[in-house]
Amino acid sequence: MLLVFAHLLGMATLVAAFLLQRRTAPGGPLVSLWVSGAAVQLITGLALLGIEPLTDAGYDYIKTGLKLVVALVVAGLAVSFRRAPRVPPRLVPAMAGLVVLNVGLAVF
Ligand code: HEM
Repeated sequence: MLLVFAHLLGMATLVAAFLLQRRTAPGGPLVSLWVSGAAVQLITGLALLGIEPLTDAGYDYIKTGLKLVVALVVAGLAVSFRRAPRVPPRLVPAMAGLVVLNVGLAVF
C-alpha cells in the first residue's frame, strides 16, 4: 500500500515536471523533476514486483514488462538530456506521451 502511494506520488512528480517544463522557454533545459519522477517510478515499480510473491496481487507480466521498458526509456531520455542547454522540441511531448502510455498500461 505504501509502495502504491509512493508510485502514485512518482507519477504526480512526472506530471509536475511536465507542467513546470511548460513555464521554461521552448526547447530550454529539462527541469530536474523528470529524473526524480522517473527514478521514483522505476524504484517503486520494481519494488512492487519484488513483493508480489508475498501478496495475492498477480500482475500481468506482459503489461508490467512493457511498463518497465517505457519507464526505462523515459528515465534514459531524462538522464541523457538533463545537462543539455537545449533539447529537441519533440522531447517533452514524447516523454509526456510515454508517461500517459504507462498510466494506460497500469489501469486498462
Ligand atoms: C512512467 C512510469 C510509470 C507510471 C506513470 C506508472 C503509473 C502507474 C499507475 C497509475 C498505477 C495504478 C495504481 C493503482 O492501480 O492503484 C500503477 C501501478 C503499478 N505499477 Fe506503475 N507506473 C510506472 C512505472 C512502473 C514500472 C517501471 C513498474 C515495474 C517494472 C511498475 C509496476 C507497477 C505495478 C506492479 C503496479 C500495480 C500496483 C498495485 O495495484 O498493487 N510501474 N503504475
